[in-house]
Amino acid sequence: MSEIVNQSENQGSQSDLAAIAQPRPDRFFIKTFGCQMNVADSERMSVLLAEQGLTPADEVEDAQVIIINGCTVREKAVHKALSTLGRLREMKNRKQQRPIIGIGGCVGQLDRENLFKRVPGLDFVFGTDTIDNLPEIIHRVRSGEKHVVYADFDASMNYSTETKVFGFKAQAFVNIMKGCDKYCTYCIVPFTRGKEKSRTIDEVVDDVARLVATGVREVTFLGQNVNSFGKGNPNVKNRQPLELHNVIGKVGPRAGEENFPQLLRAIDTDPRCQDLKRIRFTSSHPLDFSDELIECYAPASQGGVARLSPHLHLPVQSGSNRVLQKMGRHHQIEAYFSQMARLRELCPDVGLSTDLIVGFPSETEEDFQDTLRLLDRVQFDHIYAFAYSPRPGTRAAKLQDDVPDQVKNERLNHLLNYQQGISEKLYASRIDSVMEVLVEGEAKNQKMAQTSTLTGRVWTGKTPCNRVVNFISDSPRSLVGQLVSVKVSHSTGFSLQGDVVVGDLQ
Ligand code: SAM
Ligand code: SF4
Ligand code: F3S
Repeated sequence: MSEIVNQSENQGSQSDLAAIAQPRPDRFFIKTFGCQMNVADSERMSVLLAEQGLTPADEVEDAQVIIINGCTVREKAVHKALSTLGRLREMKNRKQQRPIIGIGGCVGQLDRENLFKRVPGLDFVFGTDTIDNLPEIIHRVRSGEKHVVYADFDASMNYSTETKVFGFKAQAFVNIMKGCDKYCTYCIVPFTRGKEKSRTIDEVVDDVARLVATGVREVTFLGQNVNSFGKGNPNVKNRQPLELHNVIGKVGPRAGEENFPQLLRAIDTDPRCQDLKRIRFTSSHPLDFSDELIECYAPASQGGVARLSPHLHLPVQSGSNRVLQKMGRHHQIEAYFSQMARLRELCPDVGLSTDLIVGFPSETEEDFQDTLRLLDRVQFDHIYAFAYSPRPGTRAAKLQDDVPDQVKNERLNHLLNYQQGISEKLYASRIDSVMEVLVEGEAKNQKMAQTSTLTGRVWTGKTPCNRVVNFISDSPRSLVGQLVSVKVSHSTGFSLQGDVVVGDLQ
C-alpha cells in the first residue's frame, strides 16, 4: 500500500495531489489452464476481484493476488499447473512484499488440502463450485489464516447464477448446466465438476437479454453435455417438444422437464434478444444428441432457430466401435454418421469439429485406421486430438495402459497431419466466397500487414461456421463486435484471409 497523504498539509498541484493521495489498488493475475469452462470461470473470478477493488496486472510479477485455475483432464495439464506454482513460489520467496497464491479449478477440486503438501508457499485452494466465495477466501488469507480450503461441492440440485463478463465483449460464455453424469471410462471430469444440474430456461433467457443490452452479439452456451440441459428440473413452463429422440431411441431430459432445443427456441423468439446474432454451444454427447436439436439447424423458414450458428462441436473420441464400447460411450459409430448426415441434409454449410483420443488401452492399428476413415467420411473442419492419459480413479485407469507412449505419439502426429490435409482442402474451397465475420479483436500476429498492399491493422474474427478469418483495416476505431463481410483470398489449414467488401464497415 502506498502512503496516505494528509491533504491539508500537501502544497502540490491538484494532479500531484491526486497521484499521491490515491493508494495504488492491489492487482491480481490469473493463469488459466483447460477448457472453456475454466476460461469462463476465470472471467468470473476477474469480475469478483474487480468488485473488491483489485485491478488486473499485465505481468505476474506485479500482482499481489495470484491464482492458478488448473485442469486435470490429462496428467500433463496437472504438471503444468504444479510447475507454474513451483516457479511462483520461487518468485514469492524473492519478494519483499510477498503475494498471496492460490489454486482453483478442477485441480483444486480434486486434490484439495493435499496440494499444500505438494506446493509449499501455497495460501489457498478452492474448487469449481466455490468460485463465488473468492472474496471471502482472500479476506481470510489476508487476515492471517493459513491454508484456506473451499472445495466442497454444492449439494443442492438448484443451479442459479448470473453471467459475469469482464470489460466490453461482443461474445460471452454462458453456463447453462454444470457437471457430468456420463462417466466415460477415461474421464476425470465427473469427479471435478460434480453431478449434472441446470439453470431454468427463464433464468438463462433473462441473463442473455441482459448481456445483449450491454452489447454482446454472440453467446456460447456452456456445459459438459448441453444435451442434458434441464434434466432434473421440473417443468417450469409447458413448452414443446416435450420428448426428445434420436437414432438410438428416446433420449435426454424426460417429458415434463425442460430441454435444450426449448432453450434455443426461447432465446430465438424473445424480443429482448433480437440484437443477438449468433448462438453456439459446447459440448454435447452423441448418445443424446437429439433429432429435435438437429432440426434447430434447419433454415428458419423450415422451422429452424434463426440465430443458431451453423457450427457443431460433437466429440466422438474414436472411429472404432470396439474402442467406443471400452470408453463407455454407449453408442456405435454408425449412429454418429447418421446424425452427421441428417445435420448436413438440413444445414449443408455446417462447420464440424470433434475431440479424439488415440492410444486408449488395447487400441490396435486397425482401430486407429477406423479413426482415420472417420475423418475421411465426416470431413471435420477441425479436430482436437489427445494421447490417452490414465486418470487415477477412473474405470479405464484399471485397464492396462498397453499402447506404448511412442506409438501413442506416432498415432497422434499421424492423425493431426491427416486432418491438416483435410482442413487445408476444406478451407481452400472457401476462396472467393464472401463470409460474414464477427470481429473479435486485433490479431496477435500482425505479419499479414507487412506483406499486404493494404495499410492498417490486422483484425480477426469468426464466420458463423466458426472459421477464423483475418483481414486488414485502416479504420481508426475499434471494430470489436462489428459484423463485416470479407471476400476470402487466401487460406491455410487453420484460417482464412481476405478483404472487407467495400462499403461494409460503418
Ligand atoms: N464433455 C465434453 C465432451 O464430452 O466432449 C468435454 C470433455 S473433456 C473436458 C475434453 C476432451 O478431453 C474429451 O472430449 C476427450 O477427448 C479428452 N480427454 C478426456 N479425458 C482424457 C484422458 N484421460 N486422456 C486423454 N484425453 C482425454
Ligand atoms: Fe468426460 Fe464423457 Fe462427461 Fe465428456 S461426457 S465430460 S468425456 S465423462
Ligand atoms: Fe480440464 Fe476441468 Fe475442463 S479437467 S478440461 S478444466 S472441466
